[in-house]
Amino acid sequence: MQVYEGLAGIPVVKSSISYVDGENGILEYRGIPIQELVENSNFLELSYLLIFGKIPDENELLKFELDIKENLKYFERILDIVKSLPENLHPMKILQSLVPVFAFDDIDTDIMKEENKYRQTVRIMALVPVVIAFSKRLKEGKEIVFPDKNFYYTENFLYMLNGKSVEKIYWQTLDKTLILHAEHTINASTFTAMVVVSTLADLYACVSSAIGSLSGRLHGGANEEVYKMLSSLPNDEKIIREYIENKLKNKDKIMGFGHRIYKTYDPRAKIMKYLLENLQKEKPTPILKKAEIFEKIALEYLEEKKIYTNIDFYSGVLYSQMGIPSDFFTTIFAMARVPGWIAHCIEYVRNNKLFRPTQVYDGGHNIHYKDIKSLC
Ligand code: COA
Repeated sequence: MQVYEGLAGIPVVKSSISYVDGENGILEYRGIPIQELVENSNFLELSYLLIFGKIPDENELLKFELDIKENLKYFERILDIVKSLPENLHPMKILQSLVPVFAFDDIDTDIMKEENKYRQTVRIMALVPVVIAFSKRLKEGKEIVFPDKNFYYTENFLYMLNGKSVEKIYWQTLDKTLILHAEHTINASTFTAMVVVSTLADLYACVSSAIGSLSGRLHGGANEEVYKMLSSLPNDEKIIREYIENKLKNKDKIMGFGHRIYKTYDPRAKIMKYLLENLQKEKPTPILKKAEIFEKIALEYLEEKKIYTNIDFYSGVLYSQMGIPSDFFTTIFAMARVPGWIAHCIEYVRNNKLFRPTQVYDGGHNIHYKDIKSLC
């Protein structure tokens, strides 16, 4: 029996949520090119599209937004729990721990009921940004800023995070980066969510497990690593080249490059870079120049192996421009990916089959138990 390591290239589901053509650098959500969505849509409309399979009309979108806002009423409960956690816990661990708690008084969480799927969806979407913002403020020893229902989703998030309302260009840019991160076929965290939902666990359990999966540095954690790497390097071409050469000599992976699917420039990285350059006009940052030098040199070595810049290379630099600390970068990715995870869970349970892969056993047989005391 053959073992399919990492299940690379093995289809596990039929899905109409997103499409990736890794050779040609194409990404579509529900058949719509990512570029069109970033240009014309917003994160809430896009979330609705991913989860419910259509662009909402005005009333549907308004209801969706209001239902999300309604769940902000739980913010005090969230604050009490976040305050009770160890101070130095990584923000991804805080987020992963908090999502199952969102069930609060939700007694009937049966995932097969449509009304439960919807209630869980709007609650998770409402409270994930609250957890991130509260964790950040507490970590920095700053006063907590409560959510304001008058603001749009991303505007409210940056308001809670930074303690003051921010200019439109910042929250709109963040909104667009959330679209870029919202969905990406059957990656590790989405697959994790699907495995969990296949047991008929609720969406709180699915999203929490997916967050754990995303926290690894080969998946969501890469943007934090990229930012740390760029920050630790001087703005000096020669030293950057030496750093890259050393990494390659030691067979180390360079964070922010390479992708299991894209064998060309990640289309999301292109848009991310464009958004960053746009923001740069408002608030210049020297780290962008350094990132560009790094990218140019890294590609000299990696391009021949079809390893290109991925979305995580520029996302950290962009988030830092919005006052988001590097250990919180992956939480932003998680906040963006929530609708993608939920869309896959809802799609999967419609035709549910419990995941139960098999193995090729390569251990021994008939090895007899020895009581540890008999060894003394
Ligand atoms: N830096 C240097 N070399 C890399 C590389 C990178 N970022 N990514 C892949 N390679 C090399 C491997 O060392 C390997 O070389 P070899 O054939 O000489 O042994 C070859 O390319 C294939 O690598 P492999 O690990 O099989 O590719 P993959 O498709 O499984 O890897 C990733 C995909 C994402 C796991 C990998 O590119 C990586 O670890 N990238 C850095 C982390 C990152 O940015 N993750 C975010 C992804 S969005």
